[in-house]
Amino acid sequence: MAPSRISPEPISSDVEGLTADRLSFFHENGYLLLPDYLSQQQCDNLLTKIRTMLSDFSLADHPMTKFTTGESEEHVGDAYFLESGDKVRFFFEEDAFDKSTGDLSKPKERAINKIGHNLHGMIPEFGSISHEGKIGRRNAAIARDLGYRDPRLLQSMVICKQPEIGGAVPSHQDNTFLYTDKPSAVGFWIALEDATVNNGCLSFAPGSHRRAPVKERFVRKSDNSGTTFDRVEGDKQWPRDFEHDEAEKQEEYVLGEVKAGTLVLIHGNILHKSEKNLSQKGRIIYTFHCIEGEEHYDERNWLQIPGGAAAFTKLDGSA
Ligand code: FE2
Repeated sequence: MAPSRISPEPISSDVEGLTADRLSFFHENGYLLLPDYLSQQQCDNLLTKIRTMLSDFSLADHPMTKFTTGESEEHVGDAYFLESGDKVRFFFEEDAFDKSTGDLSKPKERAINKIGHNLHGMIPEFGSISHEGKIGRRNAAIARDLGYRDPRLLQSMVICKQPEIGGAVPSHQDNTFLYTDKPSAVGFWIALEDATVNNGCLSFAPGSHRRAPVKERFVRKSDNSGTTFDRVEGDKQWPRDFEHDEAEKQEEYVLGEVKAGTLVLIHGNILHKSEKNLSQKGRIIYTFHCIEGEEHYDERNWLQIPGGAAAFTKLDGSA
């Protein structure tokens, strides 16, 4: 079924945390749009930084790692990816290469799918949009209202969704990729450019976070040679009384078209996806994820940093 449209409601810039209405929308639907979270100037500043990074990174020593998602047999999992948790690394779009020659078919500035996974810790412009300063305090207030006791920021990314080649992301749950026992991830997703149906905006299956259990998790292979999906044991699945596959087919998706500056909160269990960007417009966003520090994050997860889970950045407003 074609996604229907949803229209964001405005938010005033001096509100701390989430109002009861917004919190209740999030609990009911599994996502929430907060327009005007960043000003156009703040978006422009970040876009300028991102464009500089895209033009400055070197191809000379790059392994040309592509970011692939979901259903393909090949999962990203080389050392460049597995060791990116505490670094800033650049991953290519699958379609940025000429299939016959293997050479880049786009200028490198137009070929990167995403940059990650420690922008927040290494680049002040991103730290100040995630865990530091005024916006960091507001993010912390949101995390508190969402029920986190010890919110930990474990990764951050810029996703470029490049014009003409920006890859589709099939329906998934973020808890699959950022697994805790029990699942606890929430995504903070900020549009820096308008996201529309034409350039591959998100769409959500409202309420699916209350129905769809996390049945698999994205892990490192035991010999660290790559990544794979492991089944989550039945007694760890939540919610437990749901026939996932059948019900998932019946989910209806709504479009999350948003203006630049909008913050989208994404429950780790909600089914969401985005289509390919075939337009001439980019769709650059900045996103970071929180997990509950009191839940167990183990060494099988693909994302590891020196010091282990205890070293994940606190999102508690103290920075
Ligand atoms: Fe996602």
